[in-house]
Amino acid sequence: MKFKKKILCIGAGYVGGPSMAIIAYKCPDCKVTVVDINHERIDAWNSNELPVYEPGLDKIIKKTRGKNLFFAKDIEKQIKENDIIFVSVNTPTKTFGTGAGMAADLQYWEKTARQILENSQASKVVIEKSTLPVKTALAMEKILNSAKGKIRFDVLSNPEFLAEGTAIEDLENPDRVLIGSHETRSGLKARQELVDIYSKWVPSEKIITSNIWSAELSKLVANAFLAQRVSSINSISALCEKTDADISEVAKAVGMDSRVGSKFLKAGIGFGGSCFKKDILNLVYLCSYYGLKEVADYWESVVKINEYQQDRFIANILRSMFNTLAGKKICILGFAFKANTGDTRESPAIYITRKLLMEHAEIIISDPQALKNAASDLAGVKGSIKYVEDPYRAASGCHAIAILTDWDLYRKLDFRKIYKSMVKPAFLFDGRNIIDHKKCFAIGFNVYPTGKPALSHFKTENNS
Ligand code: NAD
Ligand code: UGA
Repeated sequence: MKFKKKILCIGAGYVGGPSMAIIAYKCPDCKVTVVDINHERIDAWNSNELPVYEPGLDKIIKKTRGKNLFFAKDIEKQIKENDIIFVSVNTPTKTFGTGAGMAADLQYWEKTARQILENSQASKVVIEKSTLPVKTALAMEKILNSAKGKIRFDVLSNPEFLAEGTAIEDLENPDRVLIGSHETRSGLKARQELVDIYSKWVPSEKIITSNIWSAELSKLVANAFLAQRVSSINSISALCEKTDADISEVAKAVGMDSRVGSKFLKAGIGFGGSCFKKDILNLVYLCSYYGLKEVADYWESVVKINEYQQDRFIANILRSMFNTLAGKKICILGFAFKANTGDTRESPAIYITRKLLMEHAEIIISDPQALKNAASDLAGVKGSIKYVEDPYRAASGCHAIAILTDWDLYRKLDFRKIYKSMVKPAFLFDGRNIIDHKKCFAIGFNVYPTGKPALSHFKTENNS
């Protein structure tokens, strides 16, 4: 079959895989190839056990793989053969040198740019899909256009806004698709080419275009605003615990103001995931770089509140369990950074588990999708850790349960059965406020929600 467009994506991760699968699914006249330096990942994309757990993804892959969606290892050949190249490689926080712990590490990004340059024999449109500091396209262009000759590269910024766990839904019905380009003749032509692809399934009013720097910056700012809401509500949850106010009631009342909106106001153990922290720190670094100290400090406080919230959760466990956890068994329900994903990158569960182990607690971790990643995150960490998928078996014989991920299945557990199997007094710390606290208290648990009064059977603590 002759395809109208040949599209390549470099980077077959959480973004590259699902986003290209949707383009292939919605544009049967396009041939989409995804490559990666990680060959194990490519093998997994070509197998029945995909490297990413995402509801609905397997169905889309089954419909497209081998027809107009291909996962390949021959990066150089694919660069030669494709005209439109998305770059979706990882852009983690730098761990060394200037900007360590703050700035984005652009080494993978730059390697890709050089590889595109070395292997291109014709002009191409190169699209930034990774999240990058504003002005990165300038560096990309400098590298790509360093070769003399007739080949031209048009660089576009098309940041991805999907959230894990709802990636397919988000890709099929995005709130918006943002395409930044230079406002030159060739920049506008390249932009139109990408608009044509998205127009196959995204309504035109949702495809917005901008200058390239606005597009790069908008992505960082969108994540910063979302994370800021989580930190804002978490900061108020601390005040609720001191004043007998209830964070769910406060969030509901505040969120019903249509100017505020009700989403992203769930208090908990803080945000995790591979992007919020890294993108905010990246924004903080950019502000400092441009001499905007007050702006940098403002955004850095969002990360500080996130750390504070996790420390508060751990301190609450220690204090409530008579200031000693040594030898006590604690069941962690949920290790993924949010529900419906197996991803544990920057999951609050990693930090909380490490801290509990430092108190010599024995940890039993349960999660429906993330146990493999959890074991790799905690490899080499000292202490007693067990991994048990079945939550009932995991909780049996434990002194306490800590709910760290908002998996739906935890809402539906038979807590009476669980209570019977635990050591008494049994403690329940709900880091996500997802279970029926009053019911669990009535069963016999001492219940510690987030941002709500504790429900304890001990006389010295406040009951409500
Ligand atoms: P990821 O680590 O899952 O995937 C990146 C892939 O790129 C890896 O498989 C890696 O092997 C590959 N890679 C690195 N250098 C390469 C090279 N030179 N050639 C070929 N492959 C190479 O990362 P991700 O979660 O998919 O994120 C990718 C980018 O998208 C990041 O910038 C991230 O900030 C952004 N983003 C992520 C999400 C998300 O939900 N995960 C959402 C929106 C945006
Ligand atoms: C986030 C953004 O939502 C996406 O738009 C963006 O594309 C993506 O980052 C990215 O750039 O990587 P993601 O991290 O996958 O997506 O998941 P979110 O749903 O945003 O949740 C992030 C964290 O915040 C999770 O740990 C979640 O549990 C926590 N959260 C979220 C809360 O604690 N409370 C809330 O009300 C909402």
